[in-house]
Amino acid sequence: MKNLEAVIFDLDGVIVFTDKFHFQAWKKIADKLEIYFDEEINNRLRGVSRMDSLEIILEEYEGEPLSRERKEELAEEKNEAYRELLKTMTPADVEDDVRETLAEIRRRGYGIALGSSSKNARFILERVGLMDAFDKISDGTNITKSKPDPEVFQKAARFLGKEPQKCLVVEDADAGITAGIAGGMQTAAIGDAVRSGKATYTLNKFRDLLEILV
Ligand code: BG6
Ligand code: MG
Repeated sequence: MKNLEAVIFDLDGVIVFTDKFHFQAWKKIADKLEIYFDEEINNRLRGVSRMDSLEIILEEYEGEPLSRERKEELAEEKNEAYRELLKTMTPADVEDDVRETLAEIRRRGYGIALGSSSKNARFILERVGLMDAFDKISDGTNITKSKPDPEVFQKAARFLGKEPQKCLVVEDADAGITAGIAGGMQTAAIGDAVRSGKATYTLNKFRDLLEILV
C-alpha cells in the first residue's frame, strides 16, 4: 500500500505514557468498591472511553447494581484523580525520539492529527508542550462512539482534508487498530497492539515511522 499523505496518532501509549496514571486512578475506584483490578484488566481499557472503561471494571463487581448517576459519579471521581496525576506531567515526559520524529514527519510534508478517545487530550498536549506538533485534533470531545468504532479517526481525516486510505493510524491498542482498519486507513502498531498482528506495519521504535513515511 503506502501513498500516504497524513498520519493520525493515538495519544495515550503512543505519544505519552499515561497508562500508569489511568491505572492508579481506576485502582482508587476499584479499591473503594472492593473490586479486583490488575494491569491485565487495565490493558483492556486502552483506547476505550471513560464510561466503557468503568463498565469493564465493574465486570468484577459483586454488589447491588449501580444506578446511572452513581456510575457517572464514579467516572467523575476517577477523572479528578487522573487529572491530579496529569498535572505532574512536563515536556520532559515526551521522549526525544517522539518529539524529533514528529518534527521530521512535518518537515517531510505530511499532515499530522491526533485521534484520541480521551477528553483530556488537549490538557495533556498542553502540559507536555506538544500542541503545535499537531495540525488537527480529534478527541473524546468530538465523538459519540469510542474505538473500535472508526469515528475518531474518520473525523481526524476529515479535519485534515485527507482521504482515509491516504492516512496512517498509529496505535498501541488493539481496539485502535481495529478502528483504523474499519475506517479504511493504513495502520501501524506499536507496543501492546503489535501482538494482534492485524496492522499494516509494525513499529519497534517510534522513529521506525520514518522508514514508512519516506
Ligand atoms: C484513551 C485511553 O486514550 O482515552 C483510555 O487509552 C481512556 O484508557 C480513554 O479510558 C478516555 O480517557 P479520558 O481522559 O477521557 O478519561
Ligand atoms: Mg492508546
